[in-house]
Amino acid sequence: MLPVQIISDLIGMPTEQVGELRDWSHALTKTLDPLCSPDDRAAAMAARSEMTAYIEDVYDRKRTRPDDGILSSLIGAEDDGERLSRDEVLINMLLLYIAGHETTTNLIGNGVIELLRHPDQLDRLRADPDLDANTVEEVLRYNSPVQITRRISREDVEVAEVEIPAGSVVLPAGAAANRDPRKWGDTADRFLVDRAGANEHVLVRRTTPPLPRFRPRSSRGSDRTAAADAAISSARARRGNQLRAAHGASRRRSAAGNRLSRAT
Ligand code: HEM
Repeated sequence: MLPVQIISDLIGMPTEQVGELRDWSHALTKTLDPLCSPDDRAAAMAARSEMTAYIEDVYDRKRTRPDDGILSSLIGAEDDGERLSRDEVLINMLLLYIAGHETTTNLIGNGVIELLRHPDQLDRLRADPDLDANTVEEVLRYNSPVQITRRISREDVEVAEVEIPAGSVVLPAGAAANRDPRKWGDTADRFLVDRAGANEHVLVRRTTPPLPRFRPRSSRGSDRTAAADAAISSARARRGNQLRAAHGASRRRSAAGNRLSRAT
C-alpha cells in the first residue's frame, strides 16, 4: 500500500477509494503480459471502465477545485489553451497513476523475495547498509518488475539477422539483456548486491538508452544480444490492430527519430 499512497500524494490522486483503485490498476496491468487469458482480459476491460469513470470524476472535481498536485497541473495546462485535450489529460492521469506504483510495488516485492532467496546477500547488505542503492539496482537487473516493453516497427528493420517488416509488434525482452553473459560475464545469473555496474541494466531509461538499439538494415552487425534473441519471438501484427484489441489502449506519439514506436 505504501507505493500507492506515495504516488497518490505525489500526483494528487484522492485516496478515498484507494483499495479499488489498486485492484483496478492491478487488473489492467495484467494485460501487459503477452499471455493474458480471456478471463484476465475481460476483468481488465471491466476495471478499465470503472477506473476511467473514477478518473473522470476526479478530473471534474479538480477542474472546479484545483490543488497544487500534478493532476491539477495537467488540467490547468489544458485550460491555458495548450496541448492537452480532455482525453489526453485523462489518459495521462491513468498512465501516471498506474506506471507510478505498479512498478515500485513489484520492485519492493521482488527485492524482498531475492534477499530471502539469497541469505548470503542479505547478510552482505546487513553488514554494509551503504549497499542499499546498489541492491535496488541489482534487483532491477536480476528480477525487474518490467520484463518486456513494446515497439511497433515504423519501417522494415533487421535485428540480429532477423527481418522485421514495418508494422510489426515486437516485444523486446530487457530482462533477457539484463542476464546476458556477454555483458554480465559468468555471474550474469547470480544475485550480487555488491555487483559493480549493476545500474547498467536496461528497462529503466534514467541511466540507459532506449532498448533495444534497433538499427536500419544497412548497418547490420554481428553483436546479437539476448534481448534481440527475445525480440525475435515477437508477435507480428498489422500496425496497432492486435495490440489495441489485446490491451484496449491507444498508441501514443512516438519519439522523433525512433525507428520503432512505443505502444501500450
Ligand atoms: C522501479 C520503478 C520503475 C520501473 C522499473 C519503470 C520502468 C518503466 C519502463 C520499462 C517503461 C517503458 C519504457 C519504454 O517502453 O520505452 C516506463 C514508462 C513509464 N514510466 Fe516507469 N518505471 C518505474 C517507475 C515509474 C514511476 C515512479 C513513475 C511515475 C511517477 C513512472 C512513470 C512512467 C511513465 C509516465 C511512463 C511512460 C513514458 C512514455 O511513454 O513516454 N515510472 N517505465
